[in-house]
Amino acid sequence: MIITIDGPAGSGKSTAARKLAARLGFPYLDTGAMYRAVTLAALQDGVDLGDEAALTAVAARDDCQFDLGPTHIRVTLRGHDVTEEIRSMRVNDHTRYIAASPGVRRILIQRQRAVAARLGSVVTEGRDQGTAAFPDAEAKFFLDATREKRTERRLHEMLADGEEVTSAQILANLDARDRTDVERAVAPLRAPPDAVRIDTTHLSIAEVLDKIVAHLRARRLVDG
Ligand code: DC
Repeated sequence: MIITIDGPAGSGKSTAARKLAARLGFPYLDTGAMYRAVTLAALQDGVDLGDEAALTAVAARDDCQFDLGPTHIRVTLRGHDVTEEIRSMRVNDHTRYIAASPGVRRILIQRQRAVAARLGSVVTEGRDQGTAAFPDAEAKFFLDATREKRTERRLHEMLADGEEVTSAQILANLDARDRTDVERAVAPLRAPPDAVRIDTTHLSIAEVLDKIVAHLRARRLVDG
C-alpha cells in the first residue's frame, strides 16, 4: 500500500509521515532528502544551478545512498554521511533550483517508484507524491498550516540542529521556496484532488496522526 503525504515546508508532514510509518510498520520515504542530496552534490561540484543538463547529470550519477530505517533516514553521498549537512541553511537556500529541474524530477520520481516497488508498502512524503509520483496511491493526505506557524516550526528545527538562524531568515527562505514550489512549471505543489486535507496550525503531532489513522480506518485500509 502506498500512502502519500504532501505539503509545504513546516506543515508537519515529515513528522506525521515518520510517525505514521512507525505505527504501521511501513518504511518511510523522505523525498525531500533526495532533492537535498542532489543539491549538495551540485554545490560540491560547483555546477551552474541554472544549467539543466548539468543538474540532470548530477542526479543521474546516482552516487547517493538512502538508508531507510523505521524512524530515520541516513543519507550517504560519495561515501560520506551527509544526513545533517543536507539540512543546512546553505542547502535550504539552493534546493529550489534543483526542484525546478525537469530532468532531476524525472530521475528522482523513477527512483521513488523503484523504491516503492521494491518495498511493497511505503509512507512517502514530499511535494508531488500524490500528484506526479504516485497518482494511484491508495491514500493521499495534504497537510498545511499558516505561514507564521510553519516559520515557527522550521526555526525550532534549525535551532535544535545547531544552525545559527533568525526568524526573518527562515521566513524569507520559506517564502522563496513556497513561490518556487507553487509556481514551477514541472510538478508544482498542489493538493491532489483526491487527498484528505488537514490544517495542522492548531493541532499537535498526536492529533494529526489520529486524524490520518482515523481516515485510514474508516476506509478499512488499516485494522482497528
Ligand atoms: O521537504 P523538504 O524541505 O526536505 O524539501 C526540500 C526541497 O525539495 C524543497 O525545495 C522542495 C523540494 N521537493 C520537491 O520539489 N519535491 C518533493 N517531492 C520533495 C521535495
